[in-house]
Amino acid sequence: MSLRRIVRRQLLWLGGVIMLVGMLLPNAVAAQSPSPLDPASPNAALIANLYWIVFWMSVAVFILVEGLLIYSAIRFRRRSDDELPVQVHGNNRMEIAWTIGPALIAIAVFVLAWQVMLADRPPTAAGLSPVSVASVCFNNDVTPEEAAAFLAASTLTIEIVGQQWWWQYNYLDYNFTTAADLYVPVGDVVVLQITSRDVAHAWWIPQLGGKQDLYPGAVTFSWFQVSRPGVFEGNCTELCGASHAYMPMRVVALPPDEFDAWAQAQVAKNQVNAIAITNPSPQVQQGEQVFVQKGCVGCHAVGGLGINAQAGPNLSNFASRRQIAGIMPNTEDNLRSWIVNPSQKPGARMPAIPIAPDEMDALIAYLDTLE
Ligand code: CUA
Repeated sequence: MSLRRIVRRQLLWLGGVIMLVGMLLPNAVAAQSPSPLDPASPNAALIANLYWIVFWMSVAVFILVEGLLIYSAIRFRRRSDDELPVQVHGNNRMEIAWTIGPALIAIAVFVLAWQVMLADRPPTAAGLSPVSVASVCFNNDVTPEEAAAFLAASTLTIEIVGQQWWWQYNYLDYNFTTAADLYVPVGDVVVLQITSRDVAHAWWIPQLGGKQDLYPGAVTFSWFQVSRPGVFEGNCTELCGASHAYMPMRVVALPPDEFDAWAQAQVAKNQVNAIAITNPSPQVQQGEQVFVQKGCVGCHAVGGLGINAQAGPNLSNFASRRQIAGIMPNTEDNLRSWIVNPSQKPGARMPAIPIAPDEMDALIAYLDTLE
């Protein structure tokens, strides 16, 4: 066998392997958590179904095309070096067929996807909401009637405000604000009223529905109805600046009674002006003073302290958050490192404030009490 033939044969094998890996890899990635193929909300289930329909259509096309290719390569292979195959110059019928066939497949996928977009509407007691996410969000000017119809389906409405680079959550039914981790009850229809304070961001929890963009000055909507307790994660999916990659989102779904207890605790926090009043530890009380005197309270609200500050995340339940600033686990050492040097998060607007060691200890003791 000539060297050329050997090389050609090896290249064929390599091409086949690359094709197979290319086909299987997206599934392997999608099967990782958080996987859109493990839906926990009806709208996410619609998308997962659509994925599987399109996937199996692709498998059928792949097997047909690759099968014909392999059959032809073997059946019509060159058997001797001076052999010439039959010379064919075009076949109108076949060319028309392989133009119309893929066009029909593309149209079928479009129709299926369009149906899913129209079906993406929150359930109400009377059936389904009269408006879908597509009709509310595709026209940039949401009419008051559309917004009202969408919100009417809601058992819990949460305003999401995207900021560089964190998420603010305003619980409109309860009148309190949190950040970073979004707590919701299992089973309720949660309507998300979404906007941005600065640039475009995008909200996406793969297990809880499709992506929704956030625009400054505009309001869009999304929703979910979480089917089981658990933690569902995602990340901002619109390039929004230096720390776009450090804008994780996390939905904590609790059984309804646990959620009620959590929400009432948040409401109670807003009714005290200073957390430290309720905590007898002198160190914690000193920590709260540091928090106020060093100016932290100018950007970060804690309960009734600096209640309107929204330039930085509300810290009322800081100690129960998984991460600090979306970049590192919420541990005491990391918290020290973060306060000393916030510039480790690219573009972060929090200044490094000089702070004495005993003040730092007190501040950390204080932040640790904010559960
Ligand atoms: Cu916010 Cu990317």
